[in-house]
Amino acid sequence: MLPPSPTPLLLLSFLLLLLLLLGCPGSSAAGGGVTARTLSPCYAAALGPASGQLVSAAGCTVLLTAPRLNASRVVAWEYKTGWEEGAVVSYAFGRPANTSRPYKNRTRFNETDFSLRIALRRGDGRLYRFRSESEATGWFQLRVVEPLSEPEIVGNSSVKAGGSTKLVCNVLEGKADSYRWKKNGELLLGSDHIRFVDNSTLCIVKATMNDSGYYACEVRNEVSQNETSFLLHVQNAANVVLPVALACVVVGSLAGVFVWCRSRDRPCLGGCRWRA
Ligand SMILES: *[C@@H]1O[C@H](CO)[C@@H](O)[C@H](O)[C@H]1NC(C)=O
Ligand SMILES: *[C@@H]1O[C@H](CO)[C@@H](O)[C@H](O)[C@H]1NC(C)=O
Ligand SMILES: *[C@@H]1O[C@H](CO)[C@@H](O)[C@H](O)[C@H]1NC(C)=O
Ligand SMILES: *[C@@H]1O[C@H](CO)[C@@H](O)[C@H](O)[C@H]1NC(C)=O
Ligand SMILES: *[C@@H]1O[C@H](CO)[C@@H](O)[C@H](O)[C@H]1NC(C)=O
Ligand SMILES: *[C@@H]1O[C@H](CO)[C@@H](O)[C@H](O)[C@H]1NC(C)=O
Ligand SMILES: *[C@@H]1O[C@H](CO)[C@@H](O)[C@H](O)[C@H]1NC(C)=O
Repeated sequence: MLPPSPTPLLLLSFLLLLLLLLGCPGSSAAGGGVTARTLSPCYAAALGPASGQLVSAAGCTVLLTAPRLNASRVVAWEYKTGWEEGAVVSYAFGRPANTSRPYKNRTRFNETDFSLRIALRRGDGRLYRFRSESEATGWFQLRVVEPLSEPEIVGNSSVKAGGSTKLVCNVLEGKADSYRWKKNGELLLGSDHIRFVDNSTLCIVKATMNDSGYYACEVRNEVSQNETSFLLHVQNAANVVLPVALACVVVGSLAGVFVWCRSRDRPCLGGCRWRA
């Protein structure tokens, strides 16, 4: 049998193309969209190229690249947030590229391949696309996450045996997605004795000497992780009060001035209790 003549096939593809064009009013999407990648060095953000969307970190640089569009005298990178739309940079051949104010001094437009580098700030999480006079790519979603600073642990570094204590892990910059607590390098699991409140707070109920040690709080989000540690010292109350009380009694009976000790008794023990 003969292969089908090319004419009906051509006609079919032409009809399909027409349907596609009619299906997308306004500017047609160019073949292949924007791709982007984070340039190193950059915390923990993935450095592979992405199409469609990318999560990167404030302070890092991303490189947006666009496919070739139909010849045109003017091209532009555009952004969109909600209803707000604008140009990041527009470029008419032979003239200097025109960069909009919020992106000035931290973007670099390549006039040869039309790629765009942006040193990211928090507010740059938006949609981006590349366009010529007649065509535009689809919108590319860029999310910008702030890397986490070193957290700080707030709490009493010294607690008496039998008492309870609370260690709070505060993150000052960025938002943590998860918190993990470790004691002397080992992951802590919740129990009656060790409780987690709001993920960021560790409560130790009825502390024993065994609870002394280095407590680390480990925080993570999509682009970074950080941690800090804290030395907790659980004091055996008896170990402190008993020798002082004994010493008081011994000194008192040796000197035979028991009254002296009685009169000094309250501030002495009180001082131990409050300073312990
Ligand atoms: C640069 O672009 C802004 C708006 O994006 C426009 O108002 C301004 O006239 C342009 N400047 C030049 C020199 O083209
Ligand atoms: C960009 O840098 C130039 C010189 O380095 C400075 O004069 C200008 O004010 C800066 N613009 C912005 C928007 O930061
Ligand atoms: C612009 O892109 C071309 C082609 O990818 C490259 O050879 C050139 O080095 C780039 N220029 C700058 C300033 O990055
Ligand atoms: C933790 O945060 C500090 C700044 O607070 C930063 O210098 C350090 O690089 C961060 N550590 C990691 C592993 O990102
Ligand atoms: C630390 O201990 C002191 C005295 O024991 C107490 O007043 C204070 O509230 C404690 N702080 C925390 C954060 O538990
Ligand atoms: C604590 O973390 C878990 C999972 O990690 C999450 O489901 C929960 O919503 C978090 N709770 C709070 C109060 O942040
Ligand atoms: C003391 O702590 C270790 C782990 O930190 C645990 O294996 C051990 O059972 C604890 N001992 C007591 C008496 O609680």
